[in-house]
Amino acid sequence: MNAPDPVALARLHAACFTTPRPWSAEEIAQLAGDDASFLLHRPEGFLLGRQILDEAEILTLAVDPAARRQGTGRALVAAFLSEARRRGAATALLEVAADNGPAIALYEASGFRRSGRRPGYYRTPEGLRKDAEIMSIALG
Ligand SMILES: CC(C)(COP(=O)(O)OP(=O)(O)OC[C@H]1O[C@@H](n2cnc3c(N)ncnc32)[C@H](O)[C@@H]1OP(=O)(O)O)[C@@H](O)C(=O)NCCC(=O)NCCS
Repeated sequence: MNAPDPVALARLHAACFTTPRPWSAEEIAQLAGDDASFLLHRPEGFLLGRQILDEAEILTLAVDPAARRQGTGRALVAAFLSEARRRGAATALLEVAADNGPAIALYEASGFRRSGRRPGYYRTPEGLRKDAEIMSIALG
């Protein structure tokens, strides 16, 4: 598959997020270009992962609103876990807004468990604070 266009990824990200705020094409290109990062993408969505030492992290995951509930998110998370294992990660983690039911359901279905909470971690466009759930999985 060709390398995806950061502008197209930013458009997709903007269709998926208000809190945390959407990332610009420049931010996505910079993160994806980092040696520790890896970008997994499909026409309907993408996942940006990062691995530092033996810990892998999902930085973001976005699936086109018009293409949801068709297994793309699950496939991207599965690809992330394979890539993290291939790179030798012992654990994987992520942060997700505590009220993001669909994402939490997907991560739980993929084997992640809630392992912590960051009160007021996100700020909404209206200036309100929202908790983050930390989820993790051991990669044996
Ligand atoms: C969360 C998100 C990535 C899910 O992508 P998706 O491609 O629709 O997910 P899948 O079709 O692979 O769903 C896999 C499983 O996750 C769970 N799930 C996904 N969406 C759900 C929803 N709206 N309600 C309840 N469970 C849901 C289900 O267990 C589902 O399995 P099933 O369809 O067999 O019941 C997508 O909704 C999205 O991009 N949301 C906005 C951005 C976001 O929240 N990103 C993650 C936070 S970083």
